Amino acid sequence: SIQYNIMNMLSSPSLNKRDIVSILKMDTREEMDALQSLAMEVKQERVNRIVYFRGLIEFSNQCRKNCFYCGLRKGNKGVNRFRLSEEEILKAADFAHENRYGSLVLQSGEDQSEDFTDFVCRVVKQIKSRYDLGITLSCGEQSEETYHRFFESGAHRYLLRIETASPDLYEKWHPEDGKHRFVTRLNCLKSLKKIGFQVGSGSMVGVPYQTYEDIAGDILFLRDMRVDMMGIGPFIEHSGTPFYRSEAYSIRQEERLGLTLRMIAILRILLKDVNIASTTAMQVLDKFGREKGLLFGANVIMPNLTPLIHRKDYLLYEDKPCLNEDASQCNNCLEARIASVGETIGYGEWGDPLHFFRRT
Ligand code: 5AD
Ligand code: SF4
Ligand code: FES
Repeated sequence: SIQYNIMNMLSSPSLNKRDIVSILKMDTREEMDALQSLAMEVKQERVNRIVYFRGLIEFSNQCRKNCFYCGLRKGNKGVNRFRLSEEEILKAADFAHENRYGSLVLQSGEDQSEDFTDFVCRVVKQIKSRYDLGITLSCGEQSEETYHRFFESGAHRYLLRIETASPDLYEKWHPEDGKHRFVTRLNCLKSLKKIGFQVGSGSMVGVPYQTYEDIAGDILFLRDMRVDMMGIGPFIEHSGTPFYRSEAYSIRQEERLGLTLRMIAILRILLKDVNIASTTAMQVLDKFGREKGLLFGANVIMPNLTPLIHRKDYLLYEDKPCLNEDASQCNNCLEARIASVGETIGYGEWGDPLHFFRRT
């Protein structure tokens, strides 16, 4: 049967890219159903059908980088640059606490100034002194010393997507300068693990030049790096970037959502007790994109807590959902969406990935 075939490949110690590509290409209804039920079996058994909320605070869109795919790139002069005040961030943390969220994600563009590091450390300490919230940072590449300071202030998780595990493809997605180097990114992930963070990474699906083989490589990378948390999302164009209306696609727009779902399912079956986010970008391609993510094995959702007035200034990609809904509207919306797929929200718990405790 199809299920037997998939399990045979995914449980083999000699699993290779070719096997993974063959699963990534399983797009008939029957094949999708088979993959989905296998992923849900593992999810049910290893992490339960509980969805953890991570309140997302997009606190600064200043970025030193120029990634070809991202709307916040430095070269996009159409962006109104902002950094939230401590007070605004603390207000968002209040909301998370009042609504019994287990943890927060503080995300920003890449800023390596000392002032930025000080700011982040101060804010993390303040939040930790008020509430027992888990804190995830997602502030790009930093020195090992800075990562240390982040950890000491009380953050215990860090998200840094590798974007693609192929160094060649990485070069095609970024300008050729000292700021955009695959090895630097890889070394950052290693530093984060060494320091003791629970580490999240991931990649995009359907970016120009990317192939199915590349995506299979991303899956093997996440396995081999022993990453605890994963964020995978389809690529969505932004008119302020060089990749807008690119001709260099090998993965068609219509394939992206299904492919992302299959990637999530494969990661769940393969890595078992990791946390996997059902990302907002999936909802751009399909009204029920995030629900589908949960039904293919994801177990984390990041409700947006960024103050409404700044949401339109944090567009990594265009058509981002929730630009006109505030934290409590998004909260209610997501509660309903999660109930609609029969899952429970893990209120009041950090929801650490069991994978982390197994590897440390
Ligand atoms: N479409 C989808 N995801 C994007 N990201 C950046 N730009 C885009 C885009 N145009 C993702 C990157 C980054 C994360 C915060 O957002 O993977 O790591
Ligand atoms: Fe900056 Fe991140 Fe966007 Fe690259 S993906 S331009 S590092 S915000
Ligand atoms: Fe924001 Fe639905 S999650 S409105």
